[in-house]
Amino acid sequence: MEIIILPTPAEVGRVAAAKIASVVQKKPAAVIGLATGSSPQVVYADLQRRVEAGEISFAEARGFALDEYVGIPLEHPESYASVIARDVIGPLGFDPSRVRVPDGRAGDLEAAAREYDAAIRDAGGVDVQILGIGANGHIGFNEPTSSFASRTRVKTLAPSTREANARFFESLDQVPAHCMTQGLGTILDAHELVLVAHGAAKAAAVAAAIEGPLSSFVPGSALQLHESATVVLDEEAAAGLQLANYYRHTYDHKPEWQRF
Ligand code: F6R
Repeated sequence: MEIIILPTPAEVGRVAAAKIASVVQKKPAAVIGLATGSSPQVVYADLQRRVEAGEISFAEARGFALDEYVGIPLEHPESYASVIARDVIGPLGFDPSRVRVPDGRAGDLEAAAREYDAAIRDAGGVDVQILGIGANGHIGFNEPTSSFASRTRVKTLAPSTREANARFFESLDQVPAHCMTQGLGTILDAHELVLVAHGAAKAAAVAAAIEGPLSSFVPGSALQLHESATVVLDEEAAAGLQLANYYRHTYDHKPEWQRF
């Protein structure tokens, strides 16, 4: 795992975006795994700048969102279908027909989840998966005790996740109780993972995921099983790391051929 600690959230966005841009430059039809929430906003902002500067294009790329609420109307401004359309498809210039979000409104949710997982596989797998991490250690909406082998499925949101996401809704009651999320096994199948975190609220989860034991209690610790995971943090999110100085030293001495 590569751990990069940077001074500001904007720098986190710039370096994570550089990693994703390097994938799209090599493979214009790359499959991008898309996270929602606050963390990746800095990444999308920097990617948009690169698109506008003509450095990269997502016109041929494909996208698969990590998760969606169950039962939320498609047109609700906080459905992840709406968020992905507003924050990703429009600003980055994806072809809307090439971006999918799990169908949290399907009559048969189990079948829809299985079909979504198969569609990712049929697309050749995710080339680079963007991830955030919840304060409780979740990635995607794989809440604590999610199996490392799990595939896309319906989960019950943890009370702390509903409370954290209530800021996007008028009240806590409006936050759906369930979601459909790529599983940890699905996420681990991606060729590369890029997790971004900024802010003090993420420090404990980041430390547990990176330096704690491999445990389904901290779903983010699944990154330890992946052969190509990059974690990009600001100083506040990195505050709980014991080996922070080692990670800084490693990044400062990164050989030129390894840079992206
Ligand atoms: C979003 C997702 C979640 C978030 C996490 C952090 O698609 O899957 O894992 O990344 O809840 O959310 P923020 O970034 O809003 O703090």
